[in-house]
Amino acid sequence: MESHDGSDVSNNLEEDHKMRNLYRPATKKPFIAIAVSILVCLIACTPAFDQVEKVTFIAIADPHFCMISKNVHMKIYERSSQIMEETIAEVNKMEDIDFVVLLGDLFRDLEVWNLDGMRELLDDLSIPYYVIFGNHDVPPVRNKAVYGEDIIMGYAACKADFVMTFQGHGFNGHKYWWSANPAHWVHLVGMDTTKIGTWGGHVSRHQLKWLQNILSAQADKEVTIILAHHNLTTHGPDDEYPEWRKFRADNAGEVRKILESHSNVKLVITGHHHIADIRTVNDIHYVTCPSILTYPCRYTKFTVTPRMAKIETIPVKNEEIIAEALAGIRMKDADKPPSTVGQSDEKRAQAQIDLALDIGGLLEDSSETLNFR
Ligand SMILES: [Fe+2]
Ligand SMILES: [Fe+2]
Repeated sequence: MESHDGSDVSNNLEEDHKMRNLYRPATKKPFIAIAVSILVCLIACTPAFDQVEKVTFIAIADPHFCMISKNVHMKIYERSSQIMEETIAEVNKMEDIDFVVLLGDLFRDLEVWNLDGMRELLDDLSIPYYVIFGNHDVPPVRNKAVYGEDIIMGYAACKADFVMTFQGHGFNGHKYWWSANPAHWVHLVGMDTTKIGTWGGHVSRHQLKWLQNILSAQADKEVTIILAHHNLTTHGPDDEYPEWRKFRADNAGEVRKILESHSNVKLVITGHHHIADIRTVNDIHYVTCPSILTYPCRYTKFTVTPRMAKIETIPVKNEEIIAEALAGIRMKDADKPPSTVGQSDEKRAQAQIDLALDIGGLLEDSSETLNFR
């Protein structure tokens, strides 16, 4: 990782925890008077409570939900429905989550039945959720000769259907990108990085103009968090391999330039790569989240305050699924480019597992803290 300092943040978290403890009521009568006196004194001496304000949210990346499909190598489609159902149930049990973000690639290929099926599942969430496009959430431009007989053609929805289905979940009107304020000091920006006909990404000129305008208009917000499916910086050692450059939006540099000109932009959260990684470029933290469908089958918890973010990855509940995903990643994946030219299948599989498991320590100890500039 290029720069971050966890020690100060840990102290901040400890302080935050201490502050919350001050609000617990005293339960033993002999100590009530003393406790109340100390409490009043401490409250008067501590910073305003809004300084420890925080939002906590779950990021679900690349669920690739589909009701009818066989597994295809690392993508264990047959389990996608179960994974989503169980993850939604787990999130509903968590008491401290404010909202959920879905980082794109909600579907195998935007099949109409999956669009309706996913909406039904997500409506079981007991908290608000926000959605952005991934490259599998647009109508596929494919042919049978390349993709085989199991692709059911002609039943894909279009981007406008996706926007209508998830209206009110970030989308507000006909635009493919959006901005929202889940808390008065948090500005969430949902981008569309998709480009029809390729799994690579691009941010349109029209959207870049909108981004510049919306960030300028929201300059007083303390924390701006950008959500995008395609990465906006390099995250893996193979990202310069020609085909793998498609993990990054092809005009990522142009987008970064706009983000860097607004000091309130602190975090960029992406999916698409199906790995866990954090990079810090010019004081903005870029976090790419692991997929819940492919190994290591994890979702990501963000706790954000005006000064820092704490990031943890959480495995899906079912260990059998994780084992199945690990076996899937080891299968020969003939239609994917090798991570390094000339590697054996085994080495290539191991390289993918290493990528999925750890770059920058995010999954090594399951949590990471980042200071904001
Ligand atoms: Fe994906
Ligand atoms: Fe993707």
